[in-house]
Amino acid sequence: MQSEYQHLIDLSDYPVSWWNDLVELGAKIKENPQEYAHECDGKIMATLFYEPSTRTQMSFQTAMLRLGGRIIGFDNPANSSVSKGETIKDTTKIVSNYADILVIRHPVAGAAKAASLSADCPVINAGDGGHLHPTQTLTDLLTLKIEKNTLSGLTIGMCGDLINGRTVHSLCKALSMFRGNRFIFISTPELMMPAYIKDIIKANGSTYEEVNTLEEAIGKLDVLYMTRIQQERFASREEYLAQKNTYVLDRKKMLLAKKDMIVLHPLPRVDEITVEVDDDRRAMYFTQAKYGVFARMALIMTILNSKKGSETLKGKVYAGVRCDNPRCITNHEEYLPKSFRAGGDETLLECEYCDERKLI
Ligand code: NCD
Repeated sequence: MQSEYQHLIDLSDYPVSWWNDLVELGAKIKENPQEYAHECDGKIMATLFYEPSTRTQMSFQTAMLRLGGRIIGFDNPANSSVSKGETIKDTTKIVSNYADILVIRHPVAGAAKAASLSADCPVINAGDGGHLHPTQTLTDLLTLKIEKNTLSGLTIGMCGDLINGRTVHSLCKALSMFRGNRFIFISTPELMMPAYIKDIIKANGSTYEEVNTLEEAIGKLDVLYMTRIQQERFASREEYLAQKNTYVLDRKKMLLAKKDMIVLHPLPRVDEITVEVDDDRRAMYFTQAKYGVFARMALIMTILNSKKGSETLKGKVYAGVRCDNPRCITNHEEYLPKSFRAGGDETLLECEYCDERKLI
């Protein structure tokens, strides 16, 4: 199904050359933001934030304002018709007639894809549940390009909540497409990287290992990507408390790291990086958040200037088959067409909204 508009739901929907162009444009904007001050004159961006956000929402808004455009939207669905039970389909349909581009964050996996099916303008995924966060990945790629001067041949440690952290899912999918990257996943057995992401890494020709402690990995890393334990995605408070405080990066652990390792974090930080680390010149997370504005300026410009639409649903409907993931949008909004990608013999299906697999 081809949409008239170019959406960004998952970076993997585009070739690496497209990401590279965006990163290059982001770097140019960083050098001379003034030159881009009228790129979006007269355009309106709507931000539909069904889930809390500081950086993603404000950096998108700043990006549009710095390009000369204007912004509308909500960041508290309780103040919109969502609280009256309006579906994503109807909200998207309406708002996409008010705006030229729509940015959506939602607590349920696949929500941005669902929005793109009914929008009359481009849709950008600003985070869908524990699933994906492609614009954070663009920010991370831009940060690596500027601060490490490469996107390949890196040993990247990812630490913390790897099962629920959408930022690390998107970043693994992207970085495994570049040559010679190696991943070290540092987590408890309960919070390990999902199998489907590990399969993508292997299929892309990159390698990974899994360890339990920061100490055994930190000395090998070029990049340490810390993440927050995602309290809101746990079934119970007890399960969250059992994981909290497992990994804390402090000055003592930083002594074990290479002199040129950089520390990234999508933020917000809770207690996984002590404040003393902020003064270490390898701590790059605040700079990373600043680069997020340039990455999003590059993205908004590129999407709005594109004449080509992008594919929305590519999979097939299998009669009576539905996704088993309770956190998939197709189990929250019944009208959505179920759509699955099939493995070789069509017994393994992958939900096109949330990537959950099932055997039939
Ligand atoms: C992250 C997110 O919302 O996924 N933050 C962000 O977008 N900068 C990470 C998080 O919430 O832990």
